[in-house]
Amino acid sequence: MSLEKFSHALENAFGSYVYGESPEELYEPIRYIMSLGGKRIRPLLTLITANLFTENWQNALSAAMSVEVFHNFTLMHDDIMDQAPLRRGKPTVHSKWDVNRAILSGDVMLVAAYGLLSNMEPEYLKTALKRFNRIAAEVCEGQQLDMLFAERTAVTKEDYLEMIRLKTSVLVGFAMELGGIAAGAGEATCRELYAIGENLGLGFQQTDDILDVYADPDVFGKQVGGDIIENKKTWLLLRAVEKSAGTPLEKELSGWLPVTDTGAKVEGIRGIYDTLGIRSEATALAEEYFEKAERGLAALEVSRPAQKEHLQAIIHQIRTRNK
Ligand code: IPE
Ligand code: IPE
Ligand code: MG
Ligand code: MG
Ligand code: MG
Repeated sequence: MSLEKFSHALENAFGSYVYGESPEELYEPIRYIMSLGGKRIRPLLTLITANLFTENWQNALSAAMSVEVFHNFTLMHDDIMDQAPLRRGKPTVHSKWDVNRAILSGDVMLVAAYGLLSNMEPEYLKTALKRFNRIAAEVCEGQQLDMLFAERTAVTKEDYLEMIRLKTSVLVGFAMELGGIAAGAGEATCRELYAIGENLGLGFQQTDDILDVYADPDVFGKQVGGDIIENKKTWLLLRAVEKSAGTPLEKELSGWLPVTDTGAKVEGIRGIYDTLGIRSEATALAEEYFEKAERGLAALEVSRPAQKEHLQAIIHQIRTRNK
Protein backbone atom coordinates (compact mmCIF):
# COMPACT_ATOMS: atom_id res chain seq x y z
CA MET A 1 0.00 0.00 0.00
CA SER A 2 1.39 3.34 -0.96
CA LEU A 3 2.36 5.87 1.67
CA GLU A 4 2.13 8.67 -0.85
CA LYS A 5 -0.82 10.61 0.52
CA PHE A 6 0.91 10.90 3.90
CA SER A 7 4.25 11.90 2.32
CA HIS A 8 2.56 14.48 0.13
CA ALA A 9 0.70 16.11 2.97
CA LEU A 10 3.93 16.26 4.94
CA GLU A 11 6.05 17.72 2.14
CA ASN A 12 3.38 20.32 1.38
CA ALA A 13 3.27 21.35 5.00
CA PHE A 14 7.07 21.58 5.21
CA GLY A 15 7.21 23.39 1.88
CA SER A 16 5.13 26.28 3.17
CA TYR A 17 6.48 26.38 6.72
CA VAL A 18 8.51 29.45 7.65
CA TYR A 19 11.11 28.92 10.38
CA GLY A 20 12.05 32.59 10.52
CA GLU A 21 13.58 35.31 8.33
CA SER A 22 16.30 37.30 9.91
CA PRO A 23 19.17 37.08 10.37
CA GLU A 24 19.52 34.96 7.26
CA GLU A 25 22.62 33.26 8.76
CA LEU A 26 20.43 31.70 11.47
CA TYR A 27 17.63 30.35 9.29
CA GLU A 28 19.49 29.39 6.11
CA PRO A 29 21.01 26.21 7.60
CA ILE A 30 17.56 25.13 8.81
CA ARG A 31 16.04 25.49 5.34
CA TYR A 32 19.11 23.69 4.00
CA ILE A 33 18.92 20.61 6.22
CA MET A 34 15.13 20.37 6.00
CA SER A 35 15.21 20.64 2.21
CA LEU A 36 17.68 17.76 1.90
CA GLY A 37 14.75 15.53 2.72
CA GLY A 38 15.73 12.37 4.45
CA LYS A 39 13.37 9.46 4.81
CA ARG A 40 10.89 11.30 7.09
CA ILE A 41 10.11 8.07 8.85
CA ARG A 42 9.26 9.65 12.21
CA PRO A 43 6.58 12.10 11.02
CA LEU A 44 5.20 9.43 8.69
CA LEU A 45 4.89 7.12 11.69
CA THR A 46 2.98 9.84 13.54
CA LEU A 47 0.51 10.37 10.70
CA ILE A 48 0.07 6.70 9.89
CA THR A 49 -0.47 5.89 13.56
CA ALA A 50 -3.06 8.67 13.92
CA ASN A 51 -4.78 7.17 10.88
CA LEU A 52 -5.34 3.93 12.83
CA PHE A 53 -7.80 5.82 15.02
CA THR A 54 -9.25 8.63 12.90
CA GLU A 55 -9.80 9.51 9.28
CA ASN A 56 -8.78 13.06 10.19
CA TRP A 57 -5.10 12.16 10.36
CA GLN A 58 -4.27 15.63 8.94
CA ASN A 59 -5.00 16.98 12.41
CA ALA A 60 -1.74 15.34 13.48
CA LEU A 61 0.35 17.17 10.85
CA SER A 62 1.74 19.84 13.14
CA ALA A 63 2.65 17.24 15.75
CA ALA A 64 4.31 15.11 13.06
CA MET A 65 6.33 18.08 11.83
CA SER A 66 7.40 18.81 15.38
CA VAL A 67 8.98 15.36 15.69
CA GLU A 68 10.81 15.76 12.38
CA VAL A 69 12.13 19.22 13.20
CA PHE A 70 13.34 17.92 16.55
CA HIS A 71 15.03 14.97 14.78
CA ASN A 72 16.80 17.34 12.36
CA PHE A 73 17.95 19.50 15.26
CA THR A 74 19.55 16.41 16.83
CA LEU A 75 21.23 15.58 13.50
CA MET A 76 22.72 19.07 13.17
CA HIS A 77 24.33 18.79 16.59
CA ASP A 78 25.13 15.07 16.18
CA ASP A 79 27.17 15.86 13.07
CA ILE A 80 29.32 18.29 15.04
CA MET A 81 29.83 15.71 17.78
CA ASP A 82 30.62 12.92 15.30
CA GLN A 83 32.77 15.19 13.09
CA ALA A 84 30.68 14.02 10.15
CA PRO A 85 31.40 15.60 6.75
CA LEU A 86 28.27 14.40 4.91
CA ARG A 87 24.55 14.20 5.55
CA ARG A 88 21.98 13.15 2.95
CA GLY A 89 24.65 13.32 0.27
CA LYS A 90 25.55 16.95 1.02
CA PRO A 91 28.04 18.72 3.31
CA THR A 92 26.93 18.85 6.93
CA VAL A 93 25.89 22.25 8.29
CA HIS A 94 29.01 22.77 10.42
CA SER A 95 31.30 21.92 7.49
CA LYS A 96 29.36 24.03 4.95
CA TRP A 97 29.19 27.03 7.29
CA ASP A 98 30.73 26.67 10.76
CA VAL A 99 30.22 25.04 14.14
CA ASN A 100 28.70 28.12 15.76
CA ARG A 101 26.02 28.34 13.12
CA ALA A 102 25.23 24.65 13.46
CA ILE A 103 24.88 25.10 17.23
CA LEU A 104 22.62 28.12 17.05
CA SER A 105 20.48 27.03 14.10
CA GLY A 106 20.06 23.72 15.89
CA ASP A 107 18.97 25.53 19.05
CA VAL A 108 16.32 27.51 17.24
CA MET A 109 15.09 24.31 15.58
CA LEU A 110 14.39 22.92 19.02
CA VAL A 111 12.33 26.03 19.70
CA ALA A 112 10.51 25.54 16.38
CA ALA A 113 9.76 21.94 17.37
CA TYR A 114 8.03 23.19 20.53
CA GLY A 115 6.19 25.81 18.49
CA LEU A 116 4.82 23.14 16.17
CA LEU A 117 3.85 20.88 19.04
CA SER A 118 1.98 23.71 20.73
CA ASN A 119 -0.46 23.78 17.78
CA MET A 120 -1.99 20.54 19.06
CA GLU A 121 -5.53 20.46 20.39
CA PRO A 122 -5.45 21.90 23.94
CA GLU A 123 -6.97 18.72 25.41
CA TYR A 124 -3.98 16.65 24.24
CA LEU A 125 -1.23 19.23 24.51
CA LYS A 126 -0.29 18.75 28.16
CA THR A 127 0.17 14.98 27.76
CA ALA A 128 2.13 15.46 24.55
CA LEU A 129 4.38 18.11 26.06
CA LYS A 130 5.15 16.07 29.15
CA ARG A 131 6.10 13.06 27.05
CA PHE A 132 8.06 15.18 24.55
CA ASN A 133 10.16 16.63 27.37
CA ARG A 134 10.94 13.21 28.80
CA ILE A 135 11.90 11.87 25.36
CA ALA A 136 14.01 14.92 24.44
CA ALA A 137 16.02 14.59 27.66
CA GLU A 138 16.51 10.85 27.02
CA VAL A 139 17.85 11.53 23.52
CA CYS A 140 20.49 13.82 25.07
CA GLU A 141 21.26 11.17 27.70
CA GLY A 142 21.79 8.61 24.93
CA GLN A 143 23.97 11.00 22.94
CA GLN A 144 26.13 11.64 26.01
CA LEU A 145 26.54 7.88 26.57
CA ASP A 146 27.48 7.47 22.91
CA MET A 147 30.27 10.04 23.36
CA LEU A 148 31.45 8.53 26.66
CA PHE A 149 31.55 5.01 25.23
CA ALA A 150 33.75 6.12 22.32
CA GLU A 151 36.47 6.98 24.85
CA ARG A 152 36.04 3.85 26.94
CA THR A 153 36.93 0.20 26.28
CA ALA A 154 34.79 -1.45 28.96
CA VAL A 155 31.40 -1.28 27.24
CA THR A 156 29.04 -4.25 27.10
CA LYS A 157 26.45 -5.14 24.46
CA GLU A 158 23.81 -4.36 27.10
CA ASP A 159 25.32 -0.89 27.58
CA TYR A 160 25.14 -0.40 23.84
CA LEU A 161 21.50 -1.44 23.64
CA GLU A 162 20.54 0.95 26.43
CA MET A 163 22.50 3.75 24.73
CA ILE A 164 20.71 3.28 21.37
CA ARG A 165 17.38 2.89 23.14
CA LEU A 166 17.93 6.37 24.54
CA LYS A 167 19.52 8.17 21.58
CA THR A 168 17.25 6.75 18.88
CA SER A 169 14.46 4.38 19.90
CA VAL A 170 12.63 6.60 22.36
CA LEU A 171 11.99 9.14 19.60
CA VAL A 172 10.72 6.50 17.19
CA GLY A 173 8.48 5.22 19.99
CA PHE A 174 7.30 8.73 20.71
CA ALA A 175 6.59 9.40 17.03
CA MET A 176 4.02 6.59 17.14
CA GLU A 177 2.72 7.45 20.57
CA LEU A 178 2.17 11.05 19.50
CA GLY A 179 0.02 9.88 16.59
CA GLY A 180 -2.11 8.05 19.15
CA ILE A 181 -2.27 11.04 21.48
CA ALA A 182 -3.24 13.41 18.66
CA ALA A 183 -6.00 11.03 17.54
CA GLY A 184 -7.44 10.66 21.04
CA ALA A 185 -6.35 7.04 21.63
CA GLY A 186 -6.47 5.84 25.26
CA GLU A 187 -3.49 5.81 27.60
CA ALA A 188 -2.92 2.04 27.49
CA THR A 189 -3.01 2.07 23.70
CA CYS A 190 -0.52 4.94 23.60
CA ARG A 191 1.81 2.92 25.80
CA GLU A 192 1.57 -0.01 23.39
CA LEU A 193 2.26 2.28 20.45
CA TYR A 194 5.35 3.57 22.21
CA ALA A 195 6.57 0.01 22.84
CA ILE A 196 6.10 -0.96 19.18
CA GLY A 197 8.05 2.12 18.10
CA GLU A 198 10.79 1.48 20.62
CA ASN A 199 11.42 -1.98 19.16
CA LEU A 200 11.28 -0.55 15.67
CA GLY A 201 13.82 2.08 16.75
CA LEU A 202 16.20 -0.55 18.16
CA GLY A 203 16.14 -2.41 14.86
CA PHE A 204 16.50 0.92 13.06
CA GLN A 205 19.66 2.02 14.89
CA GLN A 206 21.20 -1.46 14.65
CA THR A 207 20.60 -1.26 10.89
CA ASP A 208 22.10 2.25 10.81
CA ASP A 209 25.24 0.89 12.45
CA ILE A 210 25.46 -1.98 9.94
CA LEU A 211 24.97 0.44 7.03
CA ASP A 212 27.66 2.69 8.48
CA VAL A 213 30.13 -0.12 7.74
CA TYR A 214 28.61 -1.78 4.69
CA ALA A 215 26.44 0.72 2.76
CA ASP A 216 27.07 1.80 -0.82
CA PRO A 217 28.63 5.27 -0.36
CA ASP A 218 26.73 6.63 -3.39
CA VAL A 219 23.39 5.67 -1.87
CA PHE A 220 24.02 6.08 1.87
CA GLY A 221 24.53 9.86 1.85
CA LYS A 222 26.79 9.72 4.91
CA GLN A 223 30.47 8.92 5.24
CA VAL A 224 30.77 5.13 5.22
CA GLY A 225 33.04 4.02 8.07
CA GLY A 226 32.38 7.08 10.23
CA ASP A 227 31.61 4.96 13.30
CA ILE A 228 34.84 2.97 12.86
CA ILE A 229 36.88 6.16 12.50
CA GLU A 230 35.33 7.59 15.68
CA ASN A 231 35.78 4.33 17.66
CA LYS A 232 32.02 4.10 18.24
CA LYS A 233 31.15 1.17 20.44
CA THR A 234 28.59 -0.32 18.12
CA TRP A 235 27.20 -3.81 18.63
CA LEU A 236 29.35 -4.88 15.66
CA LEU A 237 32.56 -3.76 17.33
CA LEU A 238 31.62 -5.17 20.74
CA ARG A 239 30.67 -8.53 19.23
CA ALA A 240 33.93 -8.58 17.25
CA VAL A 241 35.91 -7.93 20.44
CA GLU A 242 34.03 -10.76 22.12
CA LYS A 243 34.41 -13.24 19.26
CA SER A 244 38.08 -12.51 18.66
CA ALA A 245 39.07 -12.99 22.33
CA GLY A 246 42.00 -15.37 22.67
CA THR A 247 42.73 -15.34 18.91
CA PRO A 248 45.30 -13.31 16.94
CA LEU A 249 42.45 -11.09 15.74
CA GLU A 250 42.04 -9.77 19.27
CA LYS A 251 45.32 -7.83 19.12
CA GLU A 252 44.79 -6.83 15.53
CA LEU A 253 41.42 -5.31 16.39
CA SER A 254 42.59 -3.36 19.43
CA GLY A 255 45.63 -2.27 17.42
CA TRP A 256 43.37 -0.48 14.94
CA LEU A 257 41.57 1.68 17.51
CA PRO A 258 44.27 4.40 17.90
CA VAL A 259 45.13 4.43 14.17
CA THR A 260 44.60 7.76 12.40
CA ASP A 261 44.89 6.59 8.76
CA THR A 262 41.14 6.46 8.31
CA GLY A 263 41.00 4.55 5.01
CA ALA A 264 43.23 1.74 6.26
CA LYS A 265 41.41 1.61 9.59
CA VAL A 266 37.96 1.25 8.04
CA GLU A 267 39.19 -1.44 5.66
CA GLY A 268 41.08 -3.23 8.45
CA ILE A 269 38.19 -3.37 10.90
CA ARG A 270 35.66 -4.23 8.19
CA GLY A 271 37.93 -7.12 7.20
CA ILE A 272 37.92 -8.40 10.78
CA TYR A 273 34.12 -8.18 10.90
CA ASP A 274 33.97 -10.18 7.66
CA THR A 275 36.30 -12.89 8.98
CA LEU A 276 34.24 -13.20 12.16
CA GLY A 277 30.84 -13.18 10.43
CA ILE A 278 29.68 -10.15 12.41
CA ARG A 279 27.37 -8.70 9.79
CA SER A 280 24.93 -11.59 9.69
CA GLU A 281 24.75 -11.77 13.49
CA ALA A 282 24.09 -8.03 13.68
CA THR A 283 21.40 -8.32 11.02
CA ALA A 284 19.77 -11.20 12.89
CA LEU A 285 19.57 -9.03 16.02
CA ALA A 286 17.97 -6.16 14.10
CA GLU A 287 15.46 -8.64 12.67
CA GLU A 288 14.51 -9.78 16.17
CA TYR A 289 13.52 -6.23 17.07
CA PHE A 290 11.63 -5.70 13.83
CA GLU A 291 9.72 -8.90 14.45
CA LYS A 292 8.84 -7.80 17.96
CA ALA A 293 7.51 -4.55 16.53
CA GLU A 294 5.45 -6.44 13.97
CA ARG A 295 4.01 -8.77 16.59
CA GLY A 296 3.11 -5.76 18.72
CA LEU A 297 1.34 -4.17 15.78
CA ALA A 298 -0.56 -7.37 15.00
CA ALA A 299 -1.81 -7.58 18.59
CA LEU A 300 -2.74 -3.90 18.83
CA GLU A 301 -6.47 -3.17 18.99
CA VAL A 302 -7.44 -0.15 16.92
CA SER A 303 -10.70 1.30 15.65
CA ARG A 304 -9.60 1.15 11.98
CA PRO A 305 -7.72 -2.18 11.68
CA ALA A 306 -7.68 -2.16 7.86
CA GLN A 307 -5.41 0.90 8.08
CA LYS A 308 -2.68 -1.18 9.71
CA GLU A 309 -1.41 -1.97 6.21
CA HIS A 310 0.21 1.47 6.00
CA LEU A 311 2.21 0.79 9.12
CA GLN A 312 3.17 -2.64 7.84
CA ALA A 313 4.37 -0.95 4.65
CA ILE A 314 6.58 1.55 6.45
CA ILE A 315 8.00 -1.14 8.72
CA HIS A 316 8.86 -3.12 5.60
CA GLN A 317 10.57 -0.04 4.13
CA ILE A 318 12.57 0.43 7.31
CA ARG A 319 13.56 -3.25 7.40
CA THR A 320 14.83 -3.27 3.85
CA ARG A 321 16.42 0.16 3.64
CA ASN A 322 19.88 0.73 2.16
CA LYS A 323 20.23 4.37 3.27
C1 IPE B 1 19.56 9.20 11.29
O1 IPE B 1 18.20 9.06 11.17
C2 IPE B 1 19.91 9.20 12.74
C3 IPE B 1 19.64 7.92 13.40
C4 IPE B 1 18.89 7.83 14.45
C5 IPE B 1 20.26 6.72 12.91
P1 IPE B 1 17.52 8.75 9.77
O2 IPE B 1 18.18 7.58 9.13
O3 IPE B 1 16.05 8.67 9.98
O4 IPE B 1 17.89 10.05 8.93
P2 IPE B 1 17.09 10.78 7.78
O5 IPE B 1 16.17 11.75 8.46
O6 IPE B 1 16.35 9.76 6.98
O7 IPE B 1 18.14 11.49 6.98
C1 IPE C 1 22.40 9.52 15.95
O1 IPE C 1 23.05 8.33 15.81
C2 IPE C 1 21.26 9.56 16.88
C3 IPE C 1 20.82 10.97 17.05
C4 IPE C 1 21.02 11.92 16.20
C5 IPE C 1 20.12 11.30 18.25
P1 IPE C 1 24.16 8.34 14.67
O2 IPE C 1 25.27 9.26 15.02
O3 IPE C 1 24.49 6.93 14.36
O4 IPE C 1 23.33 8.95 13.45
P2 IPE C 1 23.95 9.23 12.01
O5 IPE C 1 24.55 7.94 11.54
O6 IPE C 1 24.94 10.32 12.17
O7 IPE C 1 22.77 9.62 11.18
MG1 MG D 1 26.23 10.68 13.67
MG1 MG E 1 26.10 10.10 16.71
MG1 MG F 1 24.95 6.22 12.36
